[in-house]
Amino acid sequence: MASVVQALGIIGYPLGHSLSPLMHTVALRHLGLPYRYQAYEVEPGRLKGALEGVRALGIRGVNVTIPHKQAVLPYLDELSEEARLMGAVNTITREADGRLIGHNTDGVGFLTALREEGGLSGAGLRVAILGAGGASRALAAKLLREGAGELAILNRTPGRAAALAEELRAKFPGSTVAGAPLGGPEAAEAVAGADLLVNATSAGLKGGAEGVIPVSPDLLRPGLVVCDIVYNPLMTPLLLAAKAHKARPITGLGMFIHQGAESFRIWTGCEMPIGLVRRRLLRALRGGSRV
Ligand code: ATR
Repeated sequence: MASVVQALGIIGYPLGHSLSPLMHTVALRHLGLPYRYQAYEVEPGRLKGALEGVRALGIRGVNVTIPHKQAVLPYLDELSEEARLMGAVNTITREADGRLIGHNTDGVGFLTALREEGGLSGAGLRVAILGAGGASRALAAKLLREGAGELAILNRTPGRAAALAEELRAKFPGSTVAGAPLGGPEAAEAVAGADLLVNATSAGLKGGAEGVIPVSPDLLRPGLVVCDIVYNPLMTPLLLAAKAHKARPITGLGMFIHQGAESFRIWTGCEMPIGLVRRRLLRALRGGSRV
């Protein structure tokens, strides 16, 4: 008897830029696994209904992206230790009894890419993170857990930066975490003293805040490693500016693949064929058309 095909997917809004369906479909087909992965564009007001749908329809699991990574929390039955620490979820599993469990694979994906492409571990690192949303809190918590030396959360809306910094100081006693508005003198000082600058905002995202650089390019300098969580386009305006100022750009593709590989492992128990997936994603991204 043929095995029953189970549903997987991604919920977010908008989803035009997402390559998650392509990534997971390539991996599932290559391994011959009985799942289908679909994009579910869910407007913020419909999030609760969408999660009830996941539960009722027996969808095996979903990824969660902008702007729902924090908003999903109240609708889940349980959180992994990592997701609880981060206060954000990017992966949900639906168990056989209908319970929804929230995980977060963004931090693992980020650290794996940082090690592979930047030769860096979190220990002792001085980091400036742009953004105070779900992605930012996941990366910040992971870096602090790995022993980052100093962290500055820089955000367009200053209150969110201050609130996240306070929450992180409470969760990681003894850590040095500051929150400041983007564009101000504290932000400039934090970037000047950082080893690593991470864009965890959606600025630069194709089909969204396209063309936007969330920090003054004058702050970019040789020796600074600059990572962007946006992977479509591959070279965001921030990464192009980093290259022009002789800083070291790291695209969001590695983090994207590794967070996806961890979600894939959680749902299917199998290893994603990373090399194949990377080649297919690069082809799609370099194709130029919106994918
Ligand atoms: P998620 O939870 O998925 O990270 P989010 O909570 O909507 O999504 O967070 C998006 C982040 O990108 C926020 O830090 C947002 O800044 P605000 O808190 O001021 O809204 C940031 N962001 C989005 N567009 C931006 C832009 N054009 N310039 C600078 N920051 C931007």
